[in-house]
Amino acid sequence: MREGEPQRVVTAFKKLGIRVEIIDASQDFFDALRGITDPEEKREAITQTFYKKIFSNLVIQSNAKYLLQGTILTDVDETVAGIKRQHNVFEQLGIDPQVAFGYKILEPLIQLRKDGVRKAGRGLGLPETMFNRIPFPGPALAARVIGEVTPEKIAMVKKATAITETALKNIKAFQYMAILHDDRVTGMRANKRVFGNQIKIRCWNSLDARTAKPTRLSFDLLEKIAAKITKEIPEVVSVTYNIATKPPSTIEAV
Ligand code: XMP
Repeated sequence: MREGEPQRVVTAFKKLGIRVEIIDASQDFFDALRGITDPEEKREAITQTFYKKIFSNLVIQSNAKYLLQGTILTDVDETVAGIKRQHNVFEQLGIDPQVAFGYKILEPLIQLRKDGVRKAGRGLGLPETMFNRIPFPGPALAARVIGEVTPEKIAMVKKATAITETALKNIKAFQYMAILHDDRVTGMRANKRVFGNQIKIRCWNSLDARTAKPTRLSFDLLEKIAAKITKEIPEVVSVTYNIATKPPSTIEAV
């Protein structure tokens, strides 16, 4: 998850009178992702760890029968079309969660896209901060590391994400993010050559995530983000901005 996110979730739900218990399952995910570089294999490893290992145990221990989750129509479309296996889609792929994992999954938002979800949130009187925020993918920061996902790489992309989200928080855009590339480039630190990492910033204008265009951010703002990232993350020596559209790109990099 993002920096400070588990605590933010607990606080947001507390205000609604719902107690949230935090389970730190990061080691299970890192173990499952070790050595995997193919994007769909990474997604599959995350799905299996999330639903079969972590949630299965929690459901069995708590005697729960259902998992309630916010799958939306775009997740289903892209998975069924074979563009990208969204981590939370099963029935439409012929997978029965009851058989595969031992519990049923409830998906009340499955007929809506992001804009519809926001209208439902408003209609239900939920706090604006809960539904009017940028989307974040289920596979979380692992969807933003190209190549093998390691704790060190997640730490880098986590810092870059925090810097990017803070810098762009007042920008009117559908979604923005930092991505860590797999390939490295030569840079310099303290007048010495280093073979450093590259961060790519993406910022998208979109209504429903089916198509998207890069936001025309000011060069001054981009330079500020680059300066902060290279200052605060010593392992990073290069920062780029994505200017291609979806399609052919997708919003996330994995
Ligand atoms: P893509 O990268 O497919 O993303 O253009 C479209 C939208 O979906 C989000 N996304 C996901 N959400 N599970 C989710 O719940 C996933 O596996 C997943 N992958 C992408 C992405 O952030 C964007 O808003």
